[in-house]
Amino acid sequence: MRHNSFMNTTTENSAANYDEVVTRIAEDPERFWLEQAKSHIDWVTEPTKAVDDSNAPIYRWFPDGELNVCFNAIDRHVANGRGDQAAIIYDSPVTNTVRSITYAELLDEVSRFARALSDKGVTKGDRVVIYMPMIPEAAVAMLACARLGAIHSVVFGGFAPNELAVRIDDTAPKAVISTSCGVEKSRVLEYKPMLDEAVEIAANKPEFTVIVQRDEHRCELGETDLDYAELLDQTPEGIDPVTVKATDELYVLYTSGTTGKPKGIVRDSGGYAVASAFSMPTVFGLQPGDTMFTASDVGWVVGHTYIIYAPLLAGVTSVLYEGKPVGTPDAGAFFRAIEQHKVNVHFTAPTAMRVVRKEDPNGELMKKYDLSSLRAEFLAGERLDPDTYEWTTKILAEATGRDIPVVDNWWQTETGWPITANPLGLTRFPLKAGSSTKPNPGFQVEIVDPGGKPVPAGEEGLIVIKLPLPPGTMATVWGDDERFISSYLAAFDGYYLTGDSGYLDEDGYVFVMGRTDDVINVAGHRLSTGIIEAVVASHPAVAEAAVIGVHDDVKGQIPRALVVLGDSAEAADPNTVIDELVALVRKEIGPVAAFKRVDIVSGLPKTRSGKILRKTMRQIADGENDPAVPSTIEDRSVLDDLGAVLSRS
Ligand code: COA
Ligand code: AMP
Repeated sequence: MRHNSFMNTTTENSAANYDEVVTRIAEDPERFWLEQAKSHIDWVTEPTKAVDDSNAPIYRWFPDGELNVCFNAIDRHVANGRGDQAAIIYDSPVTNTVRSITYAELLDEVSRFARALSDKGVTKGDRVVIYMPMIPEAAVAMLACARLGAIHSVVFGGFAPNELAVRIDDTAPKAVISTSCGVEKSRVLEYKPMLDEAVEIAANKPEFTVIVQRDEHRCELGETDLDYAELLDQTPEGIDPVTVKATDELYVLYTSGTTGKPKGIVRDSGGYAVASAFSMPTVFGLQPGDTMFTASDVGWVVGHTYIIYAPLLAGVTSVLYEGKPVGTPDAGAFFRAIEQHKVNVHFTAPTAMRVVRKEDPNGELMKKYDLSSLRAEFLAGERLDPDTYEWTTKILAEATGRDIPVVDNWWQTETGWPITANPLGLTRFPLKAGSSTKPNPGFQVEIVDPGGKPVPAGEEGLIVIKLPLPPGTMATVWGDDERFISSYLAAFDGYYLTGDSGYLDEDGYVFVMGRTDDVINVAGHRLSTGIIEAVVASHPAVAEAAVIGVHDDVKGQIPRALVVLGDSAEAADPNTVIDELVALVRKEIGPVAAFKRVDIVSGLPKTRSGKILRKTMRQIADGENDPAVPSTIEDRSVLDDLGAVLSRS
């Protein structure tokens, strides 16, 4: 891989590196990003322009560049002598499997599977939905799509058929790639019935599905189902990568918005490839040949970027882990894998560290393993509370005898890579508990009040990012530029609205405190309370409902419903209604919602204009000392009556 002069300086890691890069971007962003594009990516047609602002506020990166992302992630490494290096290490404690897949082997399987898809009619621009657990075939499916210029949309396995159907309908895929089953801690989860149900519900039926049959459970195939292994057997020859424009879509990944319909976040090809590859040495301090273990899921953005694309684009080995932090078999699982695969950077969500801590408060299991390869622990997906930060830092220091940086990094499905982090490959800043450190190069983070006026350091406000966002960030909402603009770009001229609130301190450190909308984070998974509320309200016995995200010691937040029963429900047993509501949310949204907490109440507090006081209820439930009660409250006694219910933990 070629490196420009700036990349060579990163190993020195002097305090000036970060400032130098930020200054270079401020002075000449075109030049800086074109240089990164050239040094990190092999282009079919090298871009001559970095950012196209002709359609502002929607920007396009590397408008005249042409490439293939799969070629950059696999082929070129094989051509450059990395064929025998592990590209993916599949580590599956739930099936007792560890399997290493070299770059050469990955090339063989991806290119043959891409040909098989192509033979079945999948071409550039077609959509392919992928509904799979953490198995190597999920990575193969994503990369095979990228090879053909087809647009993949991965749906997390913990979502129910209905949510899968919504995504199938929105993308209208030519094919769905799935599997016979997933293996969760205590059960084998059949995927095929869920897939069939989703296809049944969806108006846009795929032309065919491909099923990976797993030994843990094989399923029956229908007329339009193809067997993955058979397809590969019938396809001895691979297919060449298809050239796409840098601005062509690589994938669509859905995330919760504030309205009922999830938003399809569109990622381009060139900008994402550049940003992903750029972030590996700069943010993570990783070089080709290193090993990264990101314990997330390919269904989330962290999995897209740091299990699949960024490590492979950078010639790094990626550990694909099908297991949990605890229970597979114990709280030492991550650390066993770090020792076994000589992992240099481990990445997970704070909630995972909290469950490890709960089971193994002194890190005894962790300390059994040789963690000498580990250079950093990255945590993202939700706020890293200072307590978890301190504990993780202390235990890792005890386990390794070294000071392992625990790097809180803040980002969103929309941004594709971290907005803020401690950029270890540039400058290792002193860490501050509660802060995700500094904006990564290219992100200009500011804090404003609701009127758009900048607020002073130390004061909380809305977090916004100056446009254009750097490469790798969302291109638009799938099929809906208007929604992109109205949801993110319209609030403040020239800025992207993150939906998070927080503050900057005197040293420019960013502190992200929480969302300003109804999005909650449950075990690092992003959910909308509005969507859960709509499902609860659809139950015939329910007259009114409010769903709020309340604090949970392990999962960070969990959803909690307060429900007023209707007159027709007089005879209904409240406990039966509660059970039905829990089951309904699981059926409609999926187990990932972790929805278990329902209270039947006699009324909900509202303003005189009828707005339910969700924020006030959440503050009371979380035991905040001074919950904000608006002066426009309609009937204070309703809130007082609720107080006892809400503060019951
Ligand atoms: N497929 C199907 N079901 C799934 C699933 C998947 N891929 N992932 C989770 N589920 C199910 C779980 O089995 C559980 O079902 P249950 O109610 O029958 O027990 C439910 O969804 C809730 O899952 P989760 O909230 O993940 O709880 P958990 O107890 O299984 O695990 C953690 C808790 C903290 C261990 C786990 O969430 C975790 O490791 N999170 C951190 C890593 C991560 O994925 N972060 C994402 C962003 S970086
Ligand atoms: P997702 O799109 O699923 O990645 O979720 C993005 C949201 O998760 C952000 O808007 C934040 O609210 C939250 N989030 C992610 N990482 C962090 C972090 N390091 N600190 C605080 N909040 C975070």
